[in-house]
Amino acid sequence: MEATTNTSDKPDKAVDKTLGKSFDKSFDKTFDKSKAKRFMGKFQQDLAASMAARMCAIGDRLDLFKALVENDHLTSEQLADTAKIDERYAREWLQGMTAAGYLEVNSDSMAYTLPAEHRMPLADENSPLFQGGILELMVHSMTPFEELVEAFQNGGGVAQSSFHPKLYDGMSRSSGVRYRNLLLQQWIPSLPEVQAKLEAGVNVADIGCGKGTALMILAEAFPNSKFVGFDAFLPQVDGANARARDAGLADRLHFEVADGAEPLPEKYDLIFTFDVIHDMPKPRQALKNIHSHLKPNGIYVMQEITAEDKLHENIGPMATLKYGMSLHYCMTTSLANDGEGLGTCGMPEKVVRDLSLEAGFSRINKADCCNDFISLFEIWP
Ligand SMILES: C[S@@+](CC[C@H](N)C(=O)[O-])C[C@H]1O[C@@H](n2cnc3c(N)ncnc32)[C@H](O)[C@@H]1O
Repeated sequence: MEATTNTSDKPDKAVDKTLGKSFDKSFDKTFDKSKAKRFMGKFQQDLAASMAARMCAIGDRLDLFKALVENDHLTSEQLADTAKIDERYAREWLQGMTAAGYLEVNSDSMAYTLPAEHRMPLADENSPLFQGGILELMVHSMTPFEELVEAFQNGGGVAQSSFHPKLYDGMSRSSGVRYRNLLLQQWIPSLPEVQAKLEAGVNVADIGCGKGTALMILAEAFPNSKFVGFDAFLPQVDGANARARDAGLADRLHFEVADGAEPLPEKYDLIFTFDVIHDMPKPRQALKNIHSHLKPNGIYVMQEITAEDKLHENIGPMATLKYGMSLHYCMTTSLANDGEGLGTCGMPEKVVRDLSLEAGFSRINKADCCNDFISLFEIWP
């Protein structure tokens, strides 16, 4: 018997069956029945997709996808043995992932497989397509649900400390995919003046450094330069210094707890912020602070999340992801500190330019390597 995948989802038909008659009731003439059916089909797909993503996060957390890759085919008993999980859960997860179209099953042996074409995003941490980090970040961003609802009702936000520590592992794994695959390969080469400074040997700061992956990569690649990472949230910095020591980089790389909107220990030739300004409670004050901590020939490099200048043009799946992350984390942690709450889509090119000029910068260049998720700017004092 051939391996099978469930590809039989026909949401429109299902909607027809379930709701067909209710559309015959007396809607006014402007009511577009087929639009209503299409929307119901889309909603069902979205609902299923959110469950599929959550089941994927379980698979990532428990290394179930990796077990399937290592063993090629596994029954539920074999997966339970290999991954040291309960067989009943293994069976339900395998079948759920098969229903979602992620796994395939041989209906004779009831052995499941993760097809070769599905492995990079789910099981290969080194792949540029790996999605485990975003899954981990997403599920943990959603746990303080009632706190979020209260913030909707009463204002304020959800503090960074309200989230499970694994959210920050997910953040680091997720951005780490970009840093390992793009930072030296595309981003730095697209900024020739920055590259020349790093090669010559300069003092570099990364504000909002998180767990420090970007600086670790830069410190390894540019041995003449010195690096310091600042982050306002202690658990982010915890461990980053140990990583720098383990990598033998501690003489040129260290991390400190500091608010990027407040005075920093010295002036720098290069200052980076990677995915930070829109999260900050005081982004305007932080940009002024960065401006005043650059040496006269210094350069500020800002990596932000791409967004459209016109709010209503932020639509579709990518914008949905960004607004979802914003509501669950970026905007909401900023508001928790009485912040501006710019949100994930809060730094489109026009705002980057306006806020940079307002902070005293004179010139802003958008790098060529930008895409619909990442924007990179070179900014001069
Ligand atoms: C989305 S994370 C990005 C972390 C890291 N740059 C990366 O790409 O993995 C934003 C980071 O900015 C930090 N942050 C927010 N406001 C800050 C502030 N005022 N000063 C310093 N760090 C801040 C947060 O603690 C968090 O680690």
